[in-house]
Amino acid sequence: MFDLTGRVVLITGATGGIGGAIAHKMKHAGATVVVSGRNAEKMNSEFDDGFIKIVADLASDGAAEKLVADTIAAAGKLDILVNNAGITRDTLLMRMTDAQFDDVINTNLRSCFKMCRAAIMPMMKNRFGRIINMASIIGVIGGPGQANYAASKGGMIAMTKSIAAEVASRNITANAIAPGFIKTPMTDVLSDELKKSYLAQIPAGRFGEPDDIANACVFLASDESSYINGQTLNINGAMGRF
Ligand SMILES: NC(=O)c1ccc[n+]([C@@H]2O[C@H](COP(=O)([O-])OP(=O)(O)OC[C@H]3O[C@@H](n4cnc5c(N)ncnc54)[C@H](O)[C@@H]3O)[C@@H](O)[C@H]2O)c1
Repeated sequence: MFDLTGRVVLITGATGGIGGAIAHKMKHAGATVVVSGRNAEKMNSEFDDGFIKIVADLASDGAAEKLVADTIAAAGKLDILVNNAGITRDTLLMRMTDAQFDDVINTNLRSCFKMCRAAIMPMMKNRFGRIINMASIIGVIGGPGQANYAASKGGMIAMTKSIAAEVASRNITANAIAPGFIKTPMTDVLSDELKKSYLAQIPAGRFGEPDDIANACVFLASDESSYINGQTLNINGAMGRF
């Protein structure tokens, strides 16, 4: 497909459904792949020694900066950053606690900001960079029970546009991907009733696979996508047509 030979990619939340697929696709495209997750055991069981593995909990202070520094120490540079780590804490707004709101904003949006900030300078020095922020269709259209998640993902989309405007002249692109409903541990926990109602809203007639997102990531990471910048790629089987 696209050739990423010589590129170093860092993927957060790599032990998850989408993150794992991205890691394997990037490797297949020839990149040196640094995977990051919270659980060393899980990383070792999902990735062989061909991957560089770094444990990091991005909800904790200083973790993002350390992860970028550790990546450069281990792989020599950082060309492609995929901010994929994310959580949900769904509940109706009137029942949502401060902690449920803060946890989601911290893990999804604040860590993305910190990762981007830490990666920008090395990418500028490198005169190349690709930032891919994993947003969500919920960040575009909202969703009941997801005010915290929608705010975090909508924030990521808006932030990505600002970053692109700041760094486009430096041969760096920053784009967001907004997946629809993808089959992963995050969506496995939803009730059958809810899944059925989502499926009815998807003209493609199926849920997305992690590889549907990973393929787009490889494209956005490639040299061929150099003029695509500050955009949100909606991948949702026509569930949302924006
Ligand atoms: N599955 C979907 O339908 C869907 C739709 C739209 C967007 N997304 C987004 O795609 C991304 C991947 O989700 P997924 O579906 O693969 O879910 P997942 O739960 O399988 O993966 C999420 C990953 O993020 C990691 N993570 C969570 N908190 C972290 C922290 N504090 N520090 C480091 N890592 C942390 C988890 O350990 C996990 O590896 C998320 O950002 C999610 O919001 C998913």
